[in-house]
Amino acid sequence: MLSKNLEKAINSQINFEFYSSYIYLSMSAYFFAENLKGFANWMGVQAQEELTHGMKFFDYVNNRGGRVIVDAIKKPETTWASPLEVFEDTYKHETIVTSRINNIADIALKEKDHATHAMLQWFITEQVEEEANAQELIQELKRVKSSADGLFMIDRELAQRAFVPAPGVTLFGMGAATGGAA
Ligand code: FEO
Repeated sequence: MLSKNLEKAINSQINFEFYSSYIYLSMSAYFFAENLKGFANWMGVQAQEELTHGMKFFDYVNNRGGRVIVDAIKKPETTWASPLEVFEDTYKHETIVTSRINNIADIALKEKDHATHAMLQWFITEQVEEEANAQELIQELKRVKSSADGLFMIDRELAQRAFVPAPGVTLFGMGAATGGAA
């Protein structure tokens, strides 16, 4: 059984993951409007992945006998000055996610909830990748500056990204009661 403290922190993180998804969906819409379809694809995939992060926490709370309470999702920004600014915002956002995950891990350690601490290890590793991906794109965008050819090449590269759900997620809770979440 989850403690009330952890239940509250994970519920808040479910909301934050869905908020993250909404931010990236908004960034995807911005890129579509800028006719950068590869960038739009990359952000669309990112938005999908965030949904599966939220659902991984959703399943976990249910599997541990907790109660998920969903809350209102904050409105994201809708416009940016440049692709570089989008990825700088992405990086900043991911550092906030990292500190939130670390904070939940700290609570789990303090409460000696080893199951929650173990579940969080996947997210801790994932955050290293999330921050690195954003940093890499910031560096690439800084290298090409405002060159149309450079942007076009990055756009083609980002069009290749395919959706990979978080492992063990029983999307939208289907099968959660049978212990489908890992
Ligand atoms: Fe779910 Fe991008 O952290």
